[in-house]
Amino acid sequence: MGACCIRCFLLFLLGASLWTLVRNLRCEVGTALSLEDDPSQTFNWTSKAEQCLPGELCQETVVLIKADGGKTALLASKGCTPQGTESMTFIQYTPPPPGLVVVSYSNYCNDSLCNSKESVRSFWYQPGAAATARPPGALRCPTCVALGSCTSAPSLPCANGTTQCYQGRLDFSGGGLESTAVEVKGCTTVVGCRLLATLNSVGPLTVKESCGYRPVLQPRQAESGGPWGHASLWALELLLPAVLLALAHFP
Ligand SMILES: *[C@@H]1O[C@H](CO)[C@@H](O)[C@H](O)[C@H]1NC(C)=O
Ligand SMILES: *[C@@H]1O[C@H](CO)[C@@H](O)[C@H](O)[C@H]1NC(C)=O
Ligand SMILES: *[C@@H]1O[C@H](CO)[C@@H](O)[C@H](O)[C@H]1NC(C)=O
Repeated sequence: MGACCIRCFLLFLLGASLWTLVRNLRCEVGTALSLEDDPSQTFNWTSKAEQCLPGELCQETVVLIKADGGKTALLASKGCTPQGTESMTFIQYTPPPPGLVVVSYSNYCNDSLCNSKESVRSFWYQPGAAATARPPGALRCPTCVALGSCTSAPSLPCANGTTQCYQGRLDFSGGGLESTAVEVKGCTTVVGCRLLATLNSVGPLTVKESCGYRPVLQPRQAESGGPWGHASLWALELLLPAVLLALAHFP
């Protein structure tokens, strides 16, 4: 009786783990980073499918950042993710145009290849048109949106309705987009260093907003020591059996 129960239990465990194996999702995996004139027309968000680990979900996340009269910075990530619940989130961080626009879209889903959105058309409009239709006010601001740093930031007249000049930097990491910086300058109604309204994550991406110009080299160097240390340890562990094997063959 007891032995039978154990056997039943083992069979149950086997069944459960097979079921988990069967439940491994396939997800679209890839990242994109670009400056686009109009991403709703030009950006094709397709990537390639990969098998995920048991229990993982698919995710697709994109952040779009635009200044009046400039290009749009686009950061996108698709992939398997170990954490999260099924959800679809659209966030507009900034007030409606005119002025700087930051929006994000993030989708966590639990069916194979469910993160297969091909375009950002359904949630990105072209805010520039509305802004330039407005007459300029008295304010002028240095204006640019760049991946990395702005090489130039011409002083442009602000549309009537904007009240401040914003100058800041958004540092993204996670979701396959490690250490990606976007510099942002332009007219806005946002007061202070709060373009992201203090939100610090978008799907699997973490974002840090800063508006000072002090370089943050110190913590970066300390951080980058870590992964390299691990990487060489991993390599050593992988090499060791091979070395031992070689020794065994040549006594
Ligand atoms: C994106 O590219 C793929 C293949 O390269 C194509 O099949 C698909 O239709 C394109 N999608 C859009 C929205 O342009
Ligand atoms: C995804 O779906 C599977 C099977 O329907 C379920 O067991 C699992 O709990 C779901 N995961 C999440 C995070 O919703
Ligand atoms: C700017 O907007 C304000 C209020 O929205 C309006 O009173 C003013 O006439 C506008 N200025 C111009 C130049 O259109």
